[in-house]
Amino acid sequence: MPSPDENPTTPDVDAGPGHDVADAPLAFGADGAPPAIQFENVVKKYGDHTVLEDLNFSVRQGEKVTLIGPSGSGKTTILRLAMTLEHLTGGYIYVDGQPLTHERRGGKRVERRKKDIAKMTRRIGMVFQQFNLFPNMTVIENITEAPIHVLGRSKAEARARGIELLEQVGLEDKADEHPSRLSGGQQQRVAIARALAMDPEILLLDEVTSALDPEIVGEVLWVLREVAKNTDITMLIVTHEMTFAQDVSDRVLMFDGGQIIEDKTPEVMFSSPEHERTQSFLQAVL
Ligand SMILES: Nc1ncnc2c1ncn2[C@@H]1O[C@H](COP(=O)(O)OP(=O)(O)OP(=O)(O)O)[C@@H](O)[C@H]1O
Ligand SMILES: [Mg+2]
Repeated sequence: MPSPDENPTTPDVDAGPGHDVADAPLAFGADGAPPAIQFENVVKKYGDHTVLEDLNFSVRQGEKVTLIGPSGSGKTTILRLAMTLEHLTGGYIYVDGQPLTHERRGGKRVERRKKDIAKMTRRIGMVFQQFNLFPNMTVIENITEAPIHVLGRSKAEARARGIELLEQVGLEDKADEHPSRLSGGQQQRVAIARALAMDPEILLLDEVTSALDPEIVGEVLWVLREVAKNTDITMLIVTHEMTFAQDVSDRVLMFDGGQIIEDKTPEVMFSSPEHERTQSFLQAVL
């Protein structure tokens, strides 16, 4: 999904059929369906600094998963890689069994074509800590821009769906305002509606309440609880709101030192974490 400063791939409506998908072994679920998203041997380096070292995890279709871990450990990096906002140094990411940016071809790791990557990226939505709304567009224009220009929807159709989403986030009366006239909580609810307008299969949420005043955090979490409850969208969430994480997550992953070190249901993770590192982290944040 495009946002003012984070849109490295140019969406292409007439991308046409992609070339052959990878010959990679995939972890299929018990129901035979591929995971919604899978990180396989993922490596991410910034220069000499290795942030992710052989990271492996997957999220099942429709599952809501929260990533927790210390500041600077690489949680945002994981989401930005999934959104193709960062270049993958090594390994593979699969979306619904299909390679996202790199694939195995003839025993080699090959980068996919830009338009194939863009097609995959369209299936994923992300909401950022700093809303990233287009300041020069109205609320409804923010929401309908990508459905019109990326998905090729008609203006009328995109607007109707946009208004429906604004009703869902409780902002139908703000459709023709500019973002600067809205509170932070309202802007973030618009950003959520904008992500949903692309009908994402996967929604990535990166500390979406961290930039908000405490008294308006609740309105944004309420909207997200509704999305989690009422849709089968797969959600990968980074948050410090542990009550929210406990309420909406099927699983919580503790991430540290470039690896997932603990993978539990929220009940178990928050009441009796196994790993010493998780215990000290949770003690500090709870
Ligand atoms: N563009 C970049 N260039 C160089 N280093 C980066 C860049 N982006 C992130 N890093 C480094 O990668 C590491 C992981 O950063 P990341 O933002 O993913 O952490 P995080 O877990 O999201 O932290 P926080 O909880 O504070 O948001 C940090 O050491 C950070 O300094
Ligand atoms: Mg972060």
